[in-house]
Amino acid sequence: MSRNMRWLVVLSLVTIVLVALAACAAPTAAPTPTTAPAAATKAPAAAGGKLEMFSWWTAGGEAEGLAGMYAAYKKLYPNVEIINATVAGGAGTNAKAVMTTRLFGGDPPDSFQVHAGLEVASYQPDKYLQPLDSIFASEGWDKVFPKDLLTLLQYQGHYWSVPVNIHRANVLWYSKKVFADNNLQPPATFDDFFKVADTLKAKGIVPFVMGDKEGWESAHVFETVLIGTLGADGYRGLWTGKTAWTDPKVTTALNTYKKMLTYINSDHAALTWDGAGQYLIDNKGGMEIMGDWENGWFQSKNYTGYGYAPAPGTAGIFDALSDSFALPKGVKNPDNAVNWIKLAGSKAGQEAFNPKKGSICARTDCDQSLFNAYLQSAAKDWQTNAIVPSVVHGAAAIESWATKYKDIMALFVTSGDVAKTQADLQAACKDAGICK
Ligand code: GAL
Repeated sequence: MSRNMRWLVVLSLVTIVLVALAACAAPTAAPTPTTAPAAATKAPAAAGGKLEMFSWWTAGGEAEGLAGMYAAYKKLYPNVEIINATVAGGAGTNAKAVMTTRLFGGDPPDSFQVHAGLEVASYQPDKYLQPLDSIFASEGWDKVFPKDLLTLLQYQGHYWSVPVNIHRANVLWYSKKVFADNNLQPPATFDDFFKVADTLKAKGIVPFVMGDKEGWESAHVFETVLIGTLGADGYRGLWTGKTAWTDPKVTTALNTYKKMLTYINSDHAALTWDGAGQYLIDNKGGMEIMGDWENGWFQSKNYTGYGYAPAPGTAGIFDALSDSFALPKGVKNPDNAVNWIKLAGSKAGQEAFNPKKGSICARTDCDQSLFNAYLQSAAKDWQTNAIVPSVVHGAAAIESWATKYKDIMALFVTSGDVAKTQADLQAACKDAGICK
């Protein structure tokens, strides 16, 4: 099956949810911006003034990637002052709420970060964002982004953001030294994972590192355990209603995850994802499951002693997400904003951003020699693997459901209550209007 076909399942969910959202769209008290924005097609003027770009990219790798794109922008528009508006917190934990307040309060930045997929719905794009259809057409983006990604980006028949990358969520990172010292191979299955974990535990090394300070990381890891347990179709079905959350395999996944959590570092609740990664750098920890922004972070630390493999049970499956940039209505610097959007979708922009960010290009024509070995392998997997959408990073479900899922799994780290958690997950699916 082609990659496009594989994403069709994702897209059918998008359609279902769009219909549901249209049916229950409630009127909102939020003000509609009154200043008419410059049309997205307007030719950029000779640039001066400012560009305020909003994101949550503050960690190593993330910040360097963004700085790379800013440098590319400055090369083209040296007289524009870039305001790097960031709200720290992985996966947008804090940034999304701030962004919503700014957008709905009539104080939008010139552009902001949003995941490709249903996440954009929570920003009420028809009211607060400018459709980018004419830019997609003028830049020829329908020919350089994969078709499936183009479809994922469309909401209510329009493009609202330009994709800058593809990230993979289901990666198991490991310390090559720790593994070599203990004659270990990266675990392909959960059984292997527990064997490796027991070996490391016996040696006084933290087998499995986690940093769940921000409340999304547990849900991220569990997303990969669900994929590893239910397979690509079974996992996709959880978000479309084809797989029941009451399925015994979900129970198995919860029990597996509960057991995995018995191997984590005791300071997990005090650490962020990158803080946990330090265990690997110090050879005090064996493995971490995290998205491939970890690759960008390792690079920013000049750390090369890491190995990588698909998270247990997920070989041949690519748990995907894409960062993109949107253009609000009523921005202060419309021409500079359009220029930013155009750069973000361009080959030069994506090549300046992704090698440092630790992601592959959303475009299909980037020069692979600019990317490290991990990213070259990810680019190959992106072409050949089954693609499933990440829920924690905006691609699989509407934001309210993704948030509930995230909160339920954050709680699970301390409760370990499999039955209650499964019931809560089922209830969240019901609330989203997908399960009966
Ligand atoms: C994801 C985002 C990535 C990376 C990560 C950790 O949601 O797509 O680009 O920033 O969060 O912050």
